[in-house]
Amino acid sequence: MPRSSQKIIEPIDAPFDKVVKSVVNRGKNGRGTKMTKSICLFNHKGGVSKTTTAFNLGWCIADCGEKVLLVDLDSQCNLSGLVLRYNAIDDDGMMSFYESRKNLTMRPIVENLINGVSPESFMSSENGELLATEHDNLRLLPGSLTVSELDSQISVSLKIATGVPATRNIPGNLPEMLIKIAKKFDADYVIYDLSPNVGGLNEIILMSSDYFIVPTTPDYFCLQAINSLEKNITRWNREIHRFIEDNDLNKKTFTIKNQPIFLGAIQQRYRPRSGKPAKSFEKWINEISSAINNHFIPSLRKIGCVIDEEVMRQSLEGSDLDPYDLAQIPDFNSLIAISQQLSKPVFALTDNEIKTTGRVFGDAEITMKKSRDNFKDIFSELADRVIYLTSQ
Ligand SMILES: Nc1ncnc2c1ncn2[C@@H]1O[C@H](COP(=O)(O)OP(=O)(O)OP(=O)(O)O)[C@@H](O)[C@H]1O
Ligand SMILES: [Mg+2]
Repeated sequence: MPRSSQKIIEPIDAPFDKVVKSVVNRGKNGRGTKMTKSICLFNHKGGVSKTTTAFNLGWCIADCGEKVLLVDLDSQCNLSGLVLRYNAIDDDGMMSFYESRKNLTMRPIVENLINGVSPESFMSSENGELLATEHDNLRLLPGSLTVSELDSQISVSLKIATGVPATRNIPGNLPEMLIKIAKKFDADYVIYDLSPNVGGLNEIILMSSDYFIVPTTPDYFCLQAINSLEKNITRWNREIHRFIEDNDLNKKTFTIKNQPIFLGAIQQRYRPRSGKPAKSFEKWINEISSAINNHFIPSLRKIGCVIDEEVMRQSLEGSDLDPYDLAQIPDFNSLIAISQQLSKPVFALTDNEIKTTGRVFGDAEITMKKSRDNFKDIFSELADRVIYLTSQ
């Protein structure tokens, strides 16, 4: 597949100068083998923009010349629906897409894992192609309703797997299979979209990932979620540690590394006033930020799961953001409808798409185009920041 031309990043200061270098040296370890970096978008609170951000961030990183694989691990299959443009999981079009053996989806992966098939055997059999998106550098591994079966199997495996080899292997085999698929596409990044729960599947994927980002919305429920998120991640860390010990697995080579690095939170869906969040939203944004800095981060630090603060600060130079805010993204307003209709992020819509699909003209058209340009700047900075942080 042809790679789109690499975006030129202006070296405005030291950290972003490093971004340029890191993009050039992209994805190689000391032995010249390409590394595929995995990033989870996770918050067990529902509706905080995990799926939308997975798609938008994946697209933006792909715009920087990186190859990105999106993996839909939510049985709601919202990300798949967004890319495939079907309205419901039981649409005829969606059904025939899933029935076609030429497409690789989560369904055969779930089936094979539950039947004890190893990642090597799965990869050596005929298993279909990854779904192309509107962006050349972006692929999707579509989700499946059956992912929820895998979720319960994994929860059982983690609790009672000792001495039951077929079950014991499922937690390690899942991330291994997904990374092998990402490597087949030669991906620089794999981005996981997770469901809003704290089940076994999310535990395995988060704890096997290299990095994670927490999308948030400025409200009271989200503030509550940050507090319980901290407890869940530290509990998962203990549980995986015990699973490794009980099953006599090699800590160094086991696919669940048990050390996902928190890159920061994304505050999203607020109403802006003169370029800043309106007062009522600002209150929750500040409270969420302080819960992250005062509670979430100190707990994660104890288990080695936070990006270095100095590196974080460097990545934020030139912006108004404080650690650990990766981005602040206002409400997309009416651009979201056009974006979902065309399976493209709001910032990637062309002037013509805004005019014809949005059926706007005059001042409304001008406002929407300005807003699109603003989102383009926000997401492009976010992608540069994520590439920088994951290249240290
Ligand atoms: N910045 C934004 N502006 C306006 N609408 C948004 C924004 N981000 C997301 N949305 C909308 O908010 C809703 C929830 O977003 P999304 O599905 O991405 O959240 P989620 O966290 O993945 O939800 P779930 O927990 O159910 O998986 C969707 O209708 C989406 O279109
Ligand atoms: Mg979602």
